[in-house]
Amino acid sequence: MSFENELNGRDSNDDAETEHFFKIICAFQSYRKFSMSTINKRLNYLATMPEEQQNAFRNYTEMLNEVKRCIELNSRILRLISQDLGKMFENAQHKWERSMTELRNKMTSEDIDKVQITLKQFYRDWSREGAVERDQAYRPIIEAIEAYFPENACHREDVKVLVPGAGLGRLAFEIAMRGFTCQGNEFSFFMLFAANFVLNRCSGTYMHTVYPWVLQTDNNMTSTNQITGVTFPDCNPSDLFTKHGVSRYTMVAGDFLEVYDTESEWDCVATCFFIDCANNVYTFIEQIYKILKPGGIWVNLGPLQYHFSTSLSEDSLEPSYEVIKDIIRSIGFEMKKEETGIKTTYSQNPSSMLKHYYECVFFVCVKPSDINIDSQT
Ligand SMILES: C[S@@+](CC[C@H](N)C(=O)[O-])C[C@H]1O[C@@H](n2cnc3c(N)ncnc32)[C@H](O)[C@@H]1O
Repeated sequence: MSFENELNGRDSNDDAETEHFFKIICAFQSYRKFSMSTINKRLNYLATMPEEQQNAFRNYTEMLNEVKRCIELNSRILRLISQDLGKMFENAQHKWERSMTELRNKMTSEDIDKVQITLKQFYRDWSREGAVERDQAYRPIIEAIEAYFPENACHREDVKVLVPGAGLGRLAFEIAMRGFTCQGNEFSFFMLFAANFVLNRCSGTYMHTVYPWVLQTDNNMTSTNQITGVTFPDCNPSDLFTKHGVSRYTMVAGDFLEVYDTESEWDCVATCFFIDCANNVYTFIEQIYKILKPGGIWVNLGPLQYHFSTSLSEDSLEPSYEVIKDIIRSIGFEMKKEETGIKTTYSQNPSSMLKHYYECVFFVCVKPSDINIDSQT
């Protein structure tokens, strides 16, 4: 699967961009040290307890040692993921490798949380266990696209589908598997590195195991919950090539608002848990409308868990779904299908005593085909 890198088009000496790139590699490499220290803190605390308590906690202590083993195994996968990535910025690699120690010192627990979120995303997108979540969130989107572009009425390879905010790329992969020409777009290096690993460097099934819940210390019913692994990928990513003879799937790195500026290019835009990532959702909807061909569809499923609503440094607007529907209409879309209350989980530990679920909205909107394109500019 080809990864087109919007960043390659830029000057690779762009220091801020390159620093960010190497900072993410550093976060992957720092995961082990950070995570081990949180477990060692507990083990050290246990060691200060009277013998009677230490005996009572024996099984728990054993489990913490198992957790350390799982962290070690997670960190091996992370090392594999980040191996050779520096070559993408060959010119700058030397300079930044020398600065790695400095970058390592800048690591925060938020950076390590993002690594852990990336590990959980393997569960959601590429494990057998994650199939339940994918059925809830991806299946309605795929079915809507298939119904709008039936095999007997079009050449699916001519139908161009864009999936912005593609995460680890499974939704876009499934769309491409059904014969469409599909492009995923993603701006997080955490996701891009991991997607690159699974899509380009896993050419079989069940090759690797990650432990997504290993740092989830609360709400475990049994000790084994925390150290349960998931093996991935549950299907062979290279099946896409085998099935169609050519790759109908590309992934583009970069900000959705910046990468796509060609009007009327796409037959379908599919968004899943994405529109609430915007500082101002209007800009996303306006952009989707602009890049869709007249007669093209926007299929969306997700909640409104606005990503910047609690940020002190970023601007954020958090309109209700009611307001969003007004915006959708005012921009020119026609809503063809709508369902609310679709229960979905997101990278949810199935064994946890605490469960979050969303009641998502799902809709299909059409950009009318009788619009005057000239008046859209
Ligand atoms: C909540 S995740 C959803 C991922 C995937 N669609 C899924 O359902 O598992 C949202 C994704 O959108 C990405 N994203 C957010 N804003 C973006 C933007 N402006 N351009 C490209 N990707 C973006 C984030 O990095 C994140 O991976």
